[in-house]
Amino acid sequence: MPTLSQRGQQLPASPIRKLMPYANAAKQKGIEVLHLNIGQPDIPTPEVFWEVVREKAQGVLAYSPSEGFLELRQAWATYYKEHVGVAIEAENILITTGASEALQFVFAVCFNPGDELILLEPFYANYLTFAIEKGIEIVPITTYIEEDFALPPVESLENYITPRTKGILICNPVNPTGKYYHCEDLQTLAELAQRHDIFLIVDEVYREFCYSERIGYSVLHFKEASEHTIVIDSISKRFSSCGARIGAIVTRNQQVLEAALRMAQARLSPPTLEQWGAIALLQLPQSYYQELKNTFERRLNTLKQGLQSIPGVVVPNSNAAFYLMVQLPVKDSEHFCQWLLESFSYQGKTVMMAPGKGFYFSPRSGINEVRIAYVLKEEKLQQAVEVLRHGLQAYKTQTQYQNLQLPSV
Ligand SMILES: Cc1ncc(COP(=O)(O)O)c(C=O)c1O
Repeated sequence: MPTLSQRGQQLPASPIRKLMPYANAAKQKGIEVLHLNIGQPDIPTPEVFWEVVREKAQGVLAYSPSEGFLELRQAWATYYKEHVGVAIEAENILITTGASEALQFVFAVCFNPGDELILLEPFYANYLTFAIEKGIEIVPITTYIEEDFALPPVESLENYITPRTKGILICNPVNPTGKYYHCEDLQTLAELAQRHDIFLIVDEVYREFCYSERIGYSVLHFKEASEHTIVIDSISKRFSSCGARIGAIVTRNQQVLEAALRMAQARLSPPTLEQWGAIALLQLPQSYYQELKNTFERRLNTLKQGLQSIPGVVVPNSNAAFYLMVQLPVKDSEHFCQWLLESFSYQGKTVMMAPGKGFYFSPRSGINEVRIAYVLKEEKLQQAVEVLRHGLQAYKTQTQYQNLQLPSV
């Protein structure tokens, strides 16, 4: 059989989907699995989306322009003006097949193989997959749960910059930690990018899920860093429309957009019908966002309160996105997560969480952490907390797990 490319062999498995066979087996046994592992909101996609898609679903399902429909780019620019408070024009926006494709395009047009990309870890695991795919070297900067995943001081960040550094990528608010980097942090990073003439790429797909402010502060506010900053955006999370596959690259750096457009032309077009639906979503009133935020903030409070009452669980002071990265009193959270699915249930239920180490590049980091997504109703979250509380007790009393040997790295 022909061998795969080195890159093909290096691509990591998703830390979230790895445990799926165990979850399926638990379901086969009649156990209800409470999914705290997925990044998909459970609230219905707003009705306007379906109305428009139904209305447009006739005749020929044609390609759209490679850069996306002008009407969508204009609607997105209006959303930026009205909701985010930044002046962005349609020509600063390229429509992509989700934020995922936006990341792939940006990596391809900004980095040569061997260039270095600085990532704050823990990070969204697919960044690593996309970077490996393009031959980009990852330089992780670890943030710590004990410090609420705070941005390290600028002097320390400077130490990671080498002649091969081409960019820094952060997610804000952060998947997986639920951390929110304030305006001052972003300014530090934007100035750093300008000083070293590198790209600052900010993935803002969770912008609305920011419970300490009206909306997450966008790096696009820093006009003086326009040539250096690129925003990755998406309708997936804020409109609970992950399956629509509509995202965007937003930047005032026209060179980046022009190069990305050439890639966009090669893949022909983003989804046609869903772009029409996205226009309707981007025109939703402020009250939609407020309700969304209220729902998720209530869930966060319920979850935090529950987790804080479990002995040994460390809950950071995070309050954004819809994730919490917490530390558990276990040696290896992956083993514990698998055990919960394979060998434990409480009142007919178990929970599925994402083991923390899959979100770190540095070996051994995050080994006793898990990412919890609060994409379930409050009642289910309370049940999940009870499963976890009893699961941790049961796990602790099984001495073979106390003596568990960690796999060597
Ligand atoms: C931080 C982050 N960026 C990008 C994506 C991908 O978004 P999309 O569905 O728009 O491709 C996700 C999806 O979970 C995400 O969490």
